[in-house]
Amino acid sequence: MCGIIAIAASERRKDLGLLLTEALKRLEYRGYDSVGIAVIDGGDLYIAKNVGTVESVAKSEDFAAFSGSVGIGHTRWATHGAPTRENAHPHVDCTKKIAIVHNGIIENYAELRDMLKSRGHTFTSDTDTEVIPHLIEEIKSSGLDTYSAFKKAVSMLKGTFAIVAIDSDDARKIFFARRVSPLIIGIGVNTVLASSDIVSILPFTRNVIVLNDDELGYAEPGKVFIEVINGTPVDIASRVQRVEYSIEEFSRGPYEHYMIKEIREQPYALSQTISGLVSARDEVDKSIKILRDSSTIYIVGAGSSYHASLAGALYLRYHGFKAHAVVASEANIHLRGLRAEDAVVAVSQSGETIDTLLAVRESKKKGARVIAIVNNPLSTIAREADTHIYMRSGPEICVAATKTFTSQVATLLYLGSTLADDSLRTPKALEALKKLPYVAASIIESTEERVKVLAKRMSSAQSAYYLGRAFGYPISAEAALKIKEVAYVHAEAYPAGESKHGPISLVVNGFPVVFTVIGELDELIEGNIEEMKSRGAYVVTVLPTNRVTPTIVNNSNEVIQLPQVPLEVSLVTYVIPHQLLAYYTALERGYNPDKPRNLAKTVTVF
Ligand code: M6R
Repeated sequence: MCGIIAIAASERRKDLGLLLTEALKRLEYRGYDSVGIAVIDGGDLYIAKNVGTVESVAKSEDFAAFSGSVGIGHTRWATHGAPTRENAHPHVDCTKKIAIVHNGIIENYAELRDMLKSRGHTFTSDTDTEVIPHLIEEIKSSGLDTYSAFKKAVSMLKGTFAIVAIDSDDARKIFFARRVSPLIIGIGVNTVLASSDIVSILPFTRNVIVLNDDELGYAEPGKVFIEVINGTPVDIASRVQRVEYSIEEFSRGPYEHYMIKEIREQPYALSQTISGLVSARDEVDKSIKILRDSSTIYIVGAGSSYHASLAGALYLRYHGFKAHAVVASEANIHLRGLRAEDAVVAVSQSGETIDTLLAVRESKKKGARVIAIVNNPLSTIAREADTHIYMRSGPEICVAATKTFTSQVATLLYLGSTLADDSLRTPKALEALKKLPYVAASIIESTEERVKVLAKRMSSAQSAYYLGRAFGYPISAEAALKIKEVAYVHAEAYPAGESKHGPISLVVNGFPVVFTVIGELDELIEGNIEEMKSRGAYVVTVLPTNRVTPTIVNNSNEVIQLPQVPLEVSLVTYVIPHQLLAYYTALERGYNPDKPRNLAKTVTVF
């Protein structure tokens, strides 16, 4: 949902344009409709922006030629206004002294724009953001210095925002503010930064301050000032945190795409998740206590995190707990009846998804205890929950979630099995979960070549069904999302038994239907496979070796056999061949799976 970066250096940098370009490349996963930078050099503001990827715009607009000591950059995921050059950030005021980058939505922009137009300001874009530089300009004209005008302007904004401004009248500083949309300040030796994500700060420093809602301030090398909008100053020293990640973890290494890197990293990511859970006894014990004391457990997430929630809730219900998965964007309805004795588990890779964050806030207002499962312990959701579990999957750059999905399911099952078998410190399921890395590695190794061939067949499909019974359904839902997201094959997941209540009418000769068979609870699946085959479907069946029967073999065009493992292990790992299928189908169809159209990795708008 837009990535922003700001750099203030202690001296003029000839390579400022290059530094901003590199930072924007790291933020491109947040949006890639258009790109822009602005710098102050020799007291003047220079700006360049256009529609396209960071690489193409940096080349066409010659970002490398930009120097200066202060600069901002933006990569956009369009909300207000089409992806055009005019709508690309940064936006400037009438005097072209003030430049702004923004992530979020200014809800009262229309009324502010009318007011500013009536005061003679001229607008050049359709964006909500453009009101901000004009508002600062307007307030400054009454005699206020830049920061005072910035602060007053921020206090007039409604909506969500991470904003960074620069002003050639106060050319050494960056001015920043945050409400809901994430913003992190990096404090280096000769540089201070502000960014939507640590990933673009890490090449400069590991010392960061994560801004809270309604905090704002300014920074220049050697000085950072932060206050709450009501004027309460923030003690900088107490807020500085050191980041664990190393910059190497963000590199694509020898892989062609982040997606395949992250799929293949799953054995390692799962080993980190599980060993983290084993060693972080405090986090786990606190979470287990909340769950044990609760009446009903609601697991909330969006997209892949919702599918992980489905798997987690089903597993808890299987063990006799009252548990429900809730789509984060509809939590306001589903959690209406939430009571103080209930628990909410918020599942979010980024820890910043706005729908999930709002569900956390609403749940806390109702007195329920909230556990967050996140891959970023500094994220807003982690900080606002009563306790959080850090998955330690490592950075996930590809927009499509892969390794974080399996880590999420593993974490939920770890909590579920601990809860189910509380009395034992190392119950069977927990022992089984420790085998996840080996099983994940063996599935990747044994299926990848097969899946590449299957991808050729899938690449000509317009549509596909993904069917599974009980535990097979959450995997099918995630598998369908994956191929839809990166390969643009329309795919729908259904509980397999539901398929004959409507969906089967679409099945004609060659229509792909992909079954996932998990565990012993889906013995009726053979009938569903036969039904599809007899309508001419192209049937792919993914299943454990012990479930292969003559009926399944005869009625499937492709059988992908996976290791026979305990339920908990299959629920985490059986999605892997589907991830590979989505990846290779995207390649067959000529798409870049790392940058699916219209998507952004972190969705911080409603
Ligand atoms: O960061 P989160 O886990 O909260 O993100 C939730 C979804 O936006 C995310 O899973 C999305 O659906 C991915 N594109 C899935 O591949």
